[in-house]
Amino acid sequence: SVIVIFGPPGAGKGTQAPKITEKLGVPQLATGDMLRAAVAAGTDVGRRAKAAMDSGGLVTDDIVVAIIRDRIAAKDCARGFILDGFPRTIEQAKKLDEMLAKRGEKVDVVVSLEVPDSLLEKRICGRWVHKASGRSYHATFNPPKSLKACPGKQAKPKRMFDDETGEQLEQRSDDTKEALVTRLEAYHSQTKPILEHYSPVVAKIDAAKDMSEVWTAIEAVLPTRE
Ligand code: AP5
Ligand code: ZN
Repeated sequence: SVIVIFGPPGAGKGTQAPKITEKLGVPQLATGDMLRAAVAAGTDVGRRAKAAMDSGGLVTDDIVVAIIRDRIAAKDCARGFILDGFPRTIEQAKKLDEMLAKRGEKVDVVVSLEVPDSLLEKRICGRWVHKASGRSYHATFNPPKSLKACPGKQAKPKRMFDDETGEQLEQRSDDTKEALVTRLEAYHSQTKPILEHYSPVVAKIDAAKDMSEVWTAIEAVLPTRE
């Protein structure tokens, strides 16, 4: 199955997608994670993407479409995949539909995480990520064990550690109030119109609720394991 997990910055795409992977056994393809890895590795794509990402704008369609085209050709995508952060423009959606049609596939469901803009700043500014795995935490809403162990430090934590590896967590360079304004503008003007394009397969989820309630709602709209 081809599942798109959709929503504004901070909606919970990266939080919920790994649970879908666990349930359906299909990989999560997150263009944001792939682009950040390319920036960190200093590749050609990384150099071309960095400025747009830091400011909160979109990377060009050509770059992300090429990344996805290569990635879905891999063996582990044969039974389907979860797209997180892609497509993000109507152009990307059309290219995706073409690529899928060639494989005899289509987007089965767009899981649309709906959260009012007013809640997103708190989610974004409190996020801490484990770069290597893409796992994300939140200082208040989803603290790692290292923080739960010393609740007194919860107010303004300076260092946090990943539950699984013990490695240090970091904050994303685009997780600032300023970049969030630009990211939200890009979302409303360029990305949200995609919902119209996929309207027959869109499943709306109230993602303002807490993480476990959101997951319960997502589970109810997922296809069954192939
Ligand atoms: P990308 O990495 O995709 O960022 P984004 O879309 O802005 O989304 P986020 O990762 O910020 O949010 P999320 O929904 O994953 O939230 P999360 O689960 O972590 O893209 C980054 C950049 O790359 C773009 O700006 C662009 O430049 C470029 N790019 C990527 N793809 C592109 C494309 N296709 N085309 C062009 N450019 C592209 O949750 C956020 C926080 O909230 C966490 O701390 C989490 O713990 C917490 N949280 C999650 N759920 C809840 C809940 N229910 N209640 C309370 N807290 C919660
Ligand atoms: Zn994400």
